[in-house]
Amino acid sequence: MDVKSFLSAVTFCLLGIGAFAQSPAIIPQPVQVQYTGGAPFKLTAATTIGGNTAEAQQVAQQLAGYLQPATGFHFVIRRMGMIQLNLLSRRDTVLGDEGYRLTVKSGSVQIVANRPAGLFYGVQTLLQLLPAEIESPTVQRVRWSIPACSITDYPRFAWRGMMLDVSRNFFSASDVKRFIDDMARHKYNVFHWHLTDDEGWRIEIKSYPRLTEVGGCRVQRYGKWGDREAPQADEPATDCGFYTQETIREIVAYAAAKNVQVLPEIDVPGHSSAAVAAYPELCCTKDPNVKVSPGHNFAEWHDNGTFTMLTDNTLNPSDEAVYRFLDKVFGEVAALFPFPYIHAGGDECYHGYWEKDPNCQALMAREGLKNSLELQSYFTKRVEKIVKSKGKKLIGWDEILEGGLAPEASVMSWRGSKGGIEAAKQGHYVVMTPNDFVYIDLLQGEPAVEPDQTSYKKVRLKKAYSFDPLPEGVDPKYILGGEANLWTEKVTTIRQVEYMSFPRAWAISDIYWSPKGTNDWEKFVPRMEAHMKRSDVGARNYARSAYDAIVTSSNTNDTLTAAITTEISGLDVYYTLNETLPDAYSVLYTGPVQIPKGDVTLKVMTYRNGQPVGKMIALSREQLLKRAK
Ligand code: ACM
Repeated sequence: MDVKSFLSAVTFCLLGIGAFAQSPAIIPQPVQVQYTGGAPFKLTAATTIGGNTAEAQQVAQQLAGYLQPATGFHFVIRRMGMIQLNLLSRRDTVLGDEGYRLTVKSGSVQIVANRPAGLFYGVQTLLQLLPAEIESPTVQRVRWSIPACSITDYPRFAWRGMMLDVSRNFFSASDVKRFIDDMARHKYNVFHWHLTDDEGWRIEIKSYPRLTEVGGCRVQRYGKWGDREAPQADEPATDCGFYTQETIREIVAYAAAKNVQVLPEIDVPGHSSAAVAAYPELCCTKDPNVKVSPGHNFAEWHDNGTFTMLTDNTLNPSDEAVYRFLDKVFGEVAALFPFPYIHAGGDECYHGYWEKDPNCQALMAREGLKNSLELQSYFTKRVEKIVKSKGKKLIGWDEILEGGLAPEASVMSWRGSKGGIEAAKQGHYVVMTPNDFVYIDLLQGEPAVEPDQTSYKKVRLKKAYSFDPLPEGVDPKYILGGEANLWTEKVTTIRQVEYMSFPRAWAISDIYWSPKGTNDWEKFVPRMEAHMKRSDVGARNYARSAYDAIVTSSNTNDTLTAAITTEISGLDVYYTLNETLPDAYSVLYTGPVQIPKGDVTLKVMTYRNGQPVGKMIALSREQLLKRAK
């Protein structure tokens, strides 16, 4: 061997050892991981997989399904195998229903759990212990080794959800399954399916076929959401999409196999243009001209945050026919979804038409309701009775607190955590989804380089990672858990769903699964990077926005100054003010930059170890001035 070959062999070994010594990156972070050292387990075509019961064998079959595409190995599941999945005959009280113990030795892998859900999560962790190439949809030539380790793991919260809005943009059944796959990978277990809104009714209701025939279709429009042209009187509504009951059953079963339960949301009494377009008699004005919105503006927004609806999108709480309608709708919904809860919406309900309606006023007088908030509370209590009569529990957005909570309602706290705190103090169950931490439709980075969203507000990755669903002074038993919620006004493809979801939903999975206080940002970043690599191999999308610079500006005494920080530590920021593109030989940022007068643009780029890692951000003096205000 010549000197050059010898040196490259040494380098190869060192790199190899380096890669091997690096801990695998598991998300969410398990409760306890011990790398026990010694030889790893080698997965080969000769490996056998076993399960001690029929249920365990089903999960073993799922494991074989996950392993097959990248390894090319076809495993036959038996009772005993080198990789062994066992359901415990005596309950392990540490693990609960979703926990597992995973032990990897050179000659064996064992996962034990009380319930199949625990085995399934043990499988997810096992997959993350394999090289990233395991995510590939095609056969890879890799040594499939799993480090020797001992893991004990169980979730912090029972409700770990992700919400997908399929009204604003319809997503196909295969897109929805892909979303569920991504959830399961990171141990989320509630798929909150926002099925109805002003922009589309997406669930077949056999008693009311027009809900999907009319409510599932809108006129075709392109361009900026909110600025789109309103539907014209006789314009055909050709942009359609809904799920048949058969498809819904199929998706519910698909999700259940991955330990994901499906929470259906029927958003009433507001957000109901699609239902009203189908059945105008459901609202006070009975306006036959209400149309399913294609993303046009149908509300006037006021400076104090309130709004006036320009068309009636609100069910009439004084009409018994509305409750008969809801009885049928919730009856069919309850029969489709085994999950004990139904989400009945309740958010952003406009009361203006109720306030002008004589029947609503008469109802208020009869029932002694002091204001329209109490009228909405009356409505929600009636809906709760309907939902309960179908054997289900009602959960609603935190507006259902206003005017008095329905007796057994649970609350999804979205306008911050305060609604959740209040509900818990009143002894109601709560799911935390505060918009300032876990609304993953919000911008995740610099607006100049992010896809436009409906709000200027941001939830940066680091902010999401700092969330604690359990506020001080609240009885933990009332906090069921939380969700990451994705509204889709401006999210039109499943690739974009993934871009908005990840890495924030990876971070949030740590928050809902891992023990309190273990959300260490500096340790999360390398784990996130490993998952980015895995996503690259699996052709799944994600955002790298956390690598972009954060530029703020101030303008004092007519001196405009830009300050630059980064979410991820250890990045170098280079900038230019001279019309050239920044590179690693431009000016290194060390402190606030004075922006000279004139037609000047600040261009910023982040680097790590001399390699570009972020997007270039270009902000004109004018933009920086606006930002300083
Ligand atoms: C909501 O974001 N309107 C619940």
